[in-house]
Amino acid sequence: MSECERVISGGEVIDGSGTARIRADVAIAGGRIVAVGDLSGWTASEERIEAGGRIVAPGFIDVHTHDDRLLLIHPDMAPKVSQGVTTVVVGNCGISLAPLIPAGDPPPPLNLLGGRGDFRFPRFADYVEALDAAPAAVNAVALVGHSTLRAAVMDDLGRAATEKETARMGDILDEALAAGCAGLSAGLAYPTAKAAPADEVATLASRLRAAGGIFTLHMRDEAAGVVASVEEAIAIGRQSGVPVVISHHKCCGRTNWGLSRKTLALIAAARASGLGVELDTYPYTASSTVLLKDFVARAERVLIAWSEPHPETTGRDLAEIAQNWGVDVDTAIDRLLPAGAIYFQMDEDDLRRILAFERTMVGSDGLPHDVRPHPRLWGTFPRVLGRYARDGGVFSLEEAVFRMTGNAARVFGLADRGRIAAGAAADIVLFDAARVLDRATYEKPFEPAAGICRVLVNGDTVWQDGAATDRRPGRLLRRNGGR
Ligand code: ZN
Ligand code: CU
Repeated sequence: MSECERVISGGEVIDGSGTARIRADVAIAGGRIVAVGDLSGWTASEERIEAGGRIVAPGFIDVHTHDDRLLLIHPDMAPKVSQGVTTVVVGNCGISLAPLIPAGDPPPPLNLLGGRGDFRFPRFADYVEALDAAPAAVNAVALVGHSTLRAAVMDDLGRAATEKETARMGDILDEALAAGCAGLSAGLAYPTAKAAPADEVATLASRLRAAGGIFTLHMRDEAAGVVASVEEAIAIGRQSGVPVVISHHKCCGRTNWGLSRKTLALIAAARASGLGVELDTYPYTASSTVLLKDFVARAERVLIAWSEPHPETTGRDLAEIAQNWGVDVDTAIDRLLPAGAIYFQMDEDDLRRILAFERTMVGSDGLPHDVRPHPRLWGTFPRVLGRYARDGGVFSLEEAVFRMTGNAARVFGLADRGRIAAGAAADIVLFDAARVLDRATYEKPFEPAAGICRVLVNGDTVWQDGAATDRRPGRLLRRNGGR
């Protein structure tokens, strides 16, 4: 007879490695899984959780988020724990909340994270300190953004950085890595980084080599130039010698639908040559970011997610707004800025092809500060499990879980996460395989998903019976399990 704090009994364990589910109990003590198997003889000092045949899986790792500030202001992290997410990777797309004190209003897309006063961490260590002082419900892996570094050291973001500026950015990055940052992100499609040549990015990324850091990239062009952009991503990986994660991979604009055949072939060839090239995606055919004219031009339809001067337009169609105002779309955009938008511009076949591709990870790319956010913020993980794995047959439930857990933990160097096994951290989700599904829509984006029964982070329950609890067991995770 053995003792522990909690036993989850009578569940079907999907362990995060991709192998078939097994009927097993799971014992938890001290924030870790201490045993897996027939534990009917075990005593639980705190709680026996009856799984009743539901799936017991590792908590999901949301590898692409913009939750930098959400962790601090809404530590219950309801949009994420309601989906079974137990770890978020923050600081993506080149934009991180730290380290930066902006000179004025943060330029788009930095303003996706907040206003001037929200950027209050001069050093990355200050952000880490704030997280440590007030932990959230979920764990975090934090990246530093290339655009954030540019805003910190450059007077004009519309040009390439000088050698001196690049060196200064590298020094700040080194400092962040020493303080617990896991890597660098870049967003070369954005006005804050468009002018940066690949060499600037590769020079910076090479600083990650010694620290074992990772580089994530919102590519320069996800539309007509998407193939060239994948080539650029691979070249940056080759030049810098660090693994590259291609973020939210997609093909934007009707004339570019189908190009994922070429991009995925390039990624497969790079992998075969021994390069670390990874990717993530979200399961929707609309994207979302700040309102930008060149993004509007290739979209079938655009919805306004927020507008500072015209909050009454939130949730409305851009073409209709322009028509009502009796102006052309460009003029309407000028009036709406600063603003955010949802762009319907991808194809379902590309989405499925990218999702089904070997080892593609799942990242919500949710925008938690938008007034009417894209439904991916609340729906991504249950949508992959329900709509694409169970109902769509894109892959097995075991494979879907592997991509969200064991595989993501491997890529981000989280040695003791992403699996149900003795010794692993007790990040666990209990879900109903028959019922799990997203419920958030473009019209009603805040609907929590169905079928997520219980979520534990480091052994503590953070979501139960359709509501967040008051527990805040999350921590900042370092690569390779260090702490
Ligand atoms: Zn992005
Ligand atoms: Cu993003």
